Amino acid sequence: MNYIQILKKGENFLKKKNIQNPYLDTELILSKVINREREEILLNINNKLNNIDLLKFQNYLIRRYRKEPIAYILGYKYFWKHKFLINKSVLIPRPDTELLIDETLKYLPIDKSKRILDVGTGSGCIVVSLLKERPKCTATAIDISKKAINVAKTNAKLHQLENKINFINIDIDKYKSNYYDLIVSNPPYISEIELNRLEDDIKFHEPKVALSGGHDGLRDLTKVIIKSKKLLKLNGKLIIEIGYKQKYQCIRILNKYGFYVNKISKDFSGRDRCVISTKL
Ligand SMILES: C[S@@+](CC[C@H](N)C(=O)[O-])C[C@H]1O[C@@H](n2cnc3c(N)ncnc32)[C@H](O)[C@@H]1O
Repeated sequence: MNYIQILKKGENFLKKKNIQNPYLDTELILSKVINREREEILLNINNKLNNIDLLKFQNYLIRRYRKEPIAYILGYKYFWKHKFLINKSVLIPRPDTELLIDETLKYLPIDKSKRILDVGTGSGCIVVSLLKERPKCTATAIDISKKAINVAKTNAKLHQLENKINFINIDIDKYKSNYYDLIVSNPPYISEIELNRLEDDIKFHEPKVALSGGHDGLRDLTKVIIKSKKLLKLNGKLIIEIGYKQKYQCIRILNKYGFYVNKISKDFSGRDRCVISTKL
């Protein structure tokens, strides 16, 4: 079979399961198998796959057919301006989280060396993106998952930041080192009810520890706020991603624990997504 036939077959196969972008995913899988950019497929559309590669292609396609997210199959995801290696122990970086980067950069002057803490670093996409933009800053990134910390370390190395970021495998509850200028976090914030309603791609494949924020979704958000009060310098900034229905609850918790809410930013879909606050 040549590439045209393979792409057509793959697309039809994924369509049966209502996969959202069946052609694109098939093309991405083929480009992984032949280890070439997607553009090169188009330029060599009459090329054929050898038997070993055909088997590989079929295996990846079946994984996608079973609703495994394409990013896990490919082993990477682009976020902000960079490529991040990922596996099933970390959340797939989301475009919405780029808003957190946009907002956070406004509080990190390019010529200043600020101390940053990233709580729940996962793949390390937030802390790596921030330090790439602000080379004078240093950071600590923590995560309760040891496997996630390993992925984040790999990404820091990939982007030559391994000497700038201190990675620690710890629960935010137990973390004590303080005097940060800025804390950033995308905590798990999905409630139990919402968790059950998530698409199969997410529900059955992404790590629960990265998604579930307890029965009301606010468990880890609250932990981060309470702990940030102790870890931040006076006037330090806490910048967090929230679920789009959590704005008022989040403001209430922030005010209760001594934070002033500066701003709430909306994501690409116009939903409240990022809360910027100051420790009073
Ligand atoms: C929503 S994911 C965010 C991952 C990454 N920062 C991103 O934006 O793609 C939340 C992360 O918080 C971590 N986490 C959950 N509970 C935690 C806790 N109590 N202390 C530290 N990290 C925690 C999870 O392991 C997961 O990696």
